[in-house]
Amino acid sequence: KEAKLWGGRFEESVTDAVERFTESISFDKALYKQDIMGSRAHASMLAHQGLISVSDRDSILQGLDKIERCIEDGEFVWRTDREDVHMNIEAALTDLIGEPAKKLHTARSRNDQVLTDFRLWCRDAIDNIVAHIEHLQVALVTLAMKNENLIVPGYTHLQRAQPILLQHLLLAYVEQLDRDAGRLLDCRHRLNFCPLGACALAGTGLPIDRFMTSHDLGFNAPMRNSIDAVSDRDFVLEFLSANSITAIHLSRLGEEWVLWASEEFGFLTPSDSVSTGSSIMPQKKNPDPMELVRGKSARVVGDLVTLLVLCKGLPHAYNRDLQEDKEPVFDSTKTIIGMLEVCAEFAQNITFNCEKIKKSLPAGHLDATTLADYLVKKGIPFRTSHDIVGKSVALCVSKNCQLQDLSLDELRSVNPVFDEDVYEFLGAENAVKKFCSYGSTGSECVAEQLDFWVTKLQIN
Ligand code: ARG
Repeated sequence: KEAKLWGGRFEESVTDAVERFTESISFDKALYKQDIMGSRAHASMLAHQGLISVSDRDSILQGLDKIERCIEDGEFVWRTDREDVHMNIEAALTDLIGEPAKKLHTARSRNDQVLTDFRLWCRDAIDNIVAHIEHLQVALVTLAMKNENLIVPGYTHLQRAQPILLQHLLLAYVEQLDRDAGRLLDCRHRLNFCPLGACALAGTGLPIDRFMTSHDLGFNAPMRNSIDAVSDRDFVLEFLSANSITAIHLSRLGEEWVLWASEEFGFLTPSDSVSTGSSIMPQKKNPDPMELVRGKSARVVGDLVTLLVLCKGLPHAYNRDLQEDKEPVFDSTKTIIGMLEVCAEFAQNITFNCEKIKKSLPAGHLDATTLADYLVKKGIPFRTSHDIVGKSVALCVSKNCQLQDLSLDELRSVNPVFDEDVYEFLGAENAVKKFCSYGSTGSECVAEQLDFWVTKLQIN
C-alpha cells in the first residue's frame, strides 16, 4: 500500500472499509478543473513571495497542465486510496515531477483548498443556471407573442374567478423566473470571496499574499476571517435555497400545464415530441416531462434540507461531515438545469386550444366582478354592488344562464340602477377590456409588460 500524504504519524494503514467510507474521489473529481486552477494561482503566488523557486513553480505549472490534459482525455486514474481530488492531483503531480510537487501544499490546507474549489464551481454553476433561466424566459415570452388576445379563465381556489389574457399569465412566470435569477446572482456576489490562504483554520506564519491569489482566481477579495473562511457553508445553503425556490416555481408551472393538458380542461395540447405513452393503454398521451418537473422539485428541496441538517450541529472550522456538502450541490445543479431545459422545450411545443378555451369562457360568471365595478361607477358603494351582483348571479343560477343572458328587466328586478350600457361590461371579452390598472390584465397593460420583456430579453 502507498503511504498516505498525511501518513507520517501513523503506524497502521486504514482498513478497507474505512477507506471506502471516507473517500470522496468518487464524486469530488468533478472539482478537478477548479482544483488545478487554484493550485496554479497558489504556486504562482508562492514563487512571487519567494516561498518556492521560479523553476519549481514552472515545473508545477507544467505538471498541472499535463494532469489536466490527461484528465480531460479520460486517461487519468482516480485512486480511492488517495482519498479525494486534492490528494489525487497532488500525488499524481509528485509521481510526474518529483520534489517540486512536495512544495505545492506550502501554506495551504485541504480545508481552504476544497472551499476555493467549491466556490469556483458554484460560481460557474450559477452562471450556467442563470443562462438556462433566461432561455426559459425567452421561450415563455415567445409563446406569449404567439398567443396575442387569447382570453382564458383566471382561477382562484381553482374556481373560475376573472377573465385574463393568457399572455398575462405567461408573463407572471417570467417575472418569477427573473427573481429566481436575481437570487442566484445575489448569492454569486456573496460567495465570490476567496478562502485560499486561510489554511487549516488559523492562517499561516509564512509570508503569503492572499490578495494575489484572490485576484488571480477572479474573486472580489480574500475572506477577512480565516476561521469563517473554512467554516462557512452559508454560500451553499443560499445556492441550494435559490435553486429550491426556482424548483418550486417550475413545479407550479408544471402542475398548471399538466392540469390544462387534461381532457377536463383541454386548454393545451403538447406535441408528441414532448409527450410519452402508456405500456398498456394504447390511447394514452401523457405530459410526463412536466409531471417530472413537479416530481424533481422534491429532489432539489431535499438537497437543501440535507445541507441544512448537515450544518446545524457543527462546531466551527472544518469537520469531516462537511465533505457531504458536495453531492447535494451537484445533484441540485444537474436537476434544476434539466428542469429548466425541459420546461423551455415544453413551452416551444405546446398549442393552446383557442376554440375550446373560447367555448368554455361563458361558464363561471367570470364577469361578475366587472359588473360590480360597473355599479360602483354608477355611484353605488362597493359592498352594496357586491350584494346586487351576488343576487344577479343567484338569479342566473336559478335560470341556468349567464349574466349577459339576463334581460334588462330581469336585472332591474334585482336593482333598478342597471342601464342599457351594462351589456358593455358583460361577457369575458367585454370584461377583460375594462381592466386598466397598472399591472392588470387589460390588453394595453399586458402589451406594456410584453414590450418590457421583449426589450429586456432582446427578443426580436
Ligand atoms: N475531501 C474533503 C472534503 O471534501 C477535503 C477536506 C479534507 N480535510 C480534512 N482535514 N480531512 O471535505
